Amino acid sequence: MALAAALEGQLQLREVLGIPLQASTVDNWSQIQNFEAKPDDLLICTYPKSGTTWIQEIVDMIEQNGDVEKCQRAIIQHRHPFIVWARPPQPSGVEKAKAMPSPRILRTHLPTQLLPPSFWENNCKFLYVARNAKDCMVSYYHFQRMNQILPDPGTWEEYFETFISGKVGWGSWFDHVKGWWEINRYQILFLFYEDIKRDSKHEIQKVMQFMGKDLDETVLDKIVQETSFEKMKENPMTNRSTVPKSILDQSISPFMRKGLCGFKYYTFILSSNILSAS
Ligand code: A3P
Repeated sequence: MALAAALEGQLQLREVLGIPLQASTVDNWSQIQNFEAKPDDLLICTYPKSGTTWIQEIVDMIEQNGDVEKCQRAIIQHRHPFIVWARPPQPSGVEKAKAMPSPRILRTHLPTQLLPPSFWENNCKFLYVARNAKDCMVSYYHFQRMNQILPDPGTWEEYFETFISGKVGWGSWFDHVKGWWEINRYQILFLFYEDIKRDSKHEIQKVMQFMGKDLDETVLDKIVQETSFEKMKENPMTNRSTVPKSILDQSISPFMRKGLCGFKYYTFILSSNILSAS
């Protein structure tokens, strides 16, 4: 907890246009808003806990033509700069993106209204992954329990209210998903976590086409295998095991927890009596 104590004050979320964000991101806000996107940028966009790491690994495997060794070149957090990342004295996400050769693959959790305008101006490609609210909320709850640089989530009942009222980092799940769903004038591929889970190959094929790549069936099959939950949970380049315990304490809850679709339409009634944190 030493790091957490040192970051006291940074643990609280601060709002930008009503959206709660990490304090360090808000401190770096003008650099983020002035980010210079390029026309050949691909931006991976998600609400937290929606399968960001999964789609990143899929995109990277496609980009590297299914070459597993090339995908082992760096931990996943470093392969696609997180443009809102700011933790001085480390280089910010914006600085990392600037230093990267084109075509760049970047990542964000920003809702549409907070996206740096240059992404729209340059007609960049957006790859959005949505996950159902219930599984997202459960995953986020356990992530906040183990993440030592996010506010303590409290009890499940308390967290339920916080999440539903959009007082979590990156704001309301409902507004985030709706905001990106309504983007239709731009080059956007909108995917669902549940579809990737149900028919990975089909969804991976869509991503491949969106990226302008053409890989043969055997490569696609390999990507399906290599990006399975089981493989990624064992892979130190994707499972966050290299992150110090003072930041992500995986003895509290693993980063790759269950990777399931626990959502059942008939139980999706917004009552904390019915929804559980499992
Ligand atoms: P759970 O907490 O439900 O297990 P993000 O990367 O956006 O933080 O999302 C993390 C969630 O995606 C976690 O959900 C994690 O297990 C899940 N996930 C990561 N890789 C996955 C994969 N290959 N297949 C299914 N789920 C995956």
